[in-house]
Amino acid sequence: WPRTAAWIDGELRVGGVGVRELAAEFGTPAYILDEEEFHARCAQWRQALPDGEVHYGGKAFLCPEVVRWLDEAGLCLDVCTGGELAVAVAGGMDPARVVFHGNNKSLAELRRAVSWRVGCVVVDSFAEIERLAALADEAGVRQSVMIRVTPGVEAHTHEFIATGGEDSKFGFSLRAGLAAEAVRLVLAAPSLELSGLHSHIGSQITDLGGFTLAARRMADFLLAAEREHGVTIPKLDLGGGLGIVQRPGDPLPPRPAELVAAVREVLPAHVRLAVEPGRSIAGPTAVALYEVGTVKEIPGVNTYVSVDGGMSDNPRPAMYGAAYTAILASRSSQAPAREVTVVGKHCESGDVLVRDLPLPADVRPGDLLAVPASGAYQRSMASNYNHVTRPPVVAVRDGAARAIVRRETEEDLLRLYA
Ligand code: LLP
Repeated sequence: WPRTAAWIDGELRVGGVGVRELAAEFGTPAYILDEEEFHARCAQWRQALPDGEVHYGGKAFLCPEVVRWLDEAGLCLDVCTGGELAVAVAGGMDPARVVFHGNNKSLAELRRAVSWRVGCVVVDSFAEIERLAALADEAGVRQSVMIRVTPGVEAHTHEFIATGGEDSKFGFSLRAGLAAEAVRLVLAAPSLELSGLHSHIGSQITDLGGFTLAARRMADFLLAAEREHGVTIPKLDLGGGLGIVQRPGDPLPPRPAELVAAVREVLPAHVRLAVEPGRSIAGPTAVALYEVGTVKEIPGVNTYVSVDGGMSDNPRPAMYGAAYTAILASRSSQAPAREVTVVGKHCESGDVLVRDLPLPADVRPGDLLAVPASGAYQRSMASNYNHVTRPPVVAVRDGAARAIVRRETEEDLLRLYA
């Protein structure tokens, strides 16, 4: 639960605001974001790496207000599309503090990155090195780049979000010699400046082994490339991936400072460390708030508690088998607990938010359920499936609440149609 979470007579309050009041003012479903928690997590990473760079992974959750918070906290930003770059700029971030990722950036995206003077482009293919070099040359600028390397490390996480293994659409393989070839090509392009090497081994990782193994391989490769070409490569960016506690009993992930200390041990002294945490900043900051609509008991089989959102606002259980928890958040109950399945309102059986959840047996329509650890990859992955409107993100702090992303309306949905 976010740090300002408190319960008064069974009602959950976040940032000093009760969930009943939030539901009345903003409707449900809604993501309730604890601003203090967000700032604290930015500060924790900033302090863990005072002499390095912390780029927030914008894919976890991004909007202009968050960009302003990052700016205040002294964090930079990692984007992976032109859309994320546009939000960064709309939020007032200096493009010089943006790192631009992606395995298939379009020509238009690359052109914009060069003309907006994006701080660093992470090159991901031979074709892209060629395209970017030509665009920078045309614009008469020297574009700073990092090379994305796949270090051949299998992080212990879901295969869809493991990215550092040898067989990956991302980056240049170390073992197959492609990374070394990429270094040669970048160094040979007068319009490109090699500012560092990059790796990202996956997401929701809770042990340090994968990070230190990747760091060691990347450090060895960096030193070998420096020796071979007689250059200095000043930066090593180890990407994001630090996991969070999603529900009680999950393994405790290391703290940012522990991760930094562990990888520091294997880094050469002249190399500046950069990281790209997304989930470990945004994830724990928000709770998703839903209203119960129906409770369906199938005697001896199961009880389905249906809420007013589902796989459109949280696709993670269906996509990755992610396990969440939920609580009755709007009142106290003395009723004994029974196990239920919390489902959404979408037209398919896979639309399950929480399985085997003990909830008070008197849970009824109108009750509010709160799902913690909903700040990352939920609003940012939300869809309009079944033509539902995507929920708002409501920032709460010191007893005040405001929507930093408003609820989508039916007009928003209909606007696209011919
Ligand atoms: N840097 C790069 C290059 C990345 O690809 C990612 C995430 C990050 C940083 C941030 O990683 P984080 O610290 O958030 O783990 N949709 C999936 C997660 C996909 C992550 C993709 N890349 C999910 O809901 O679990």
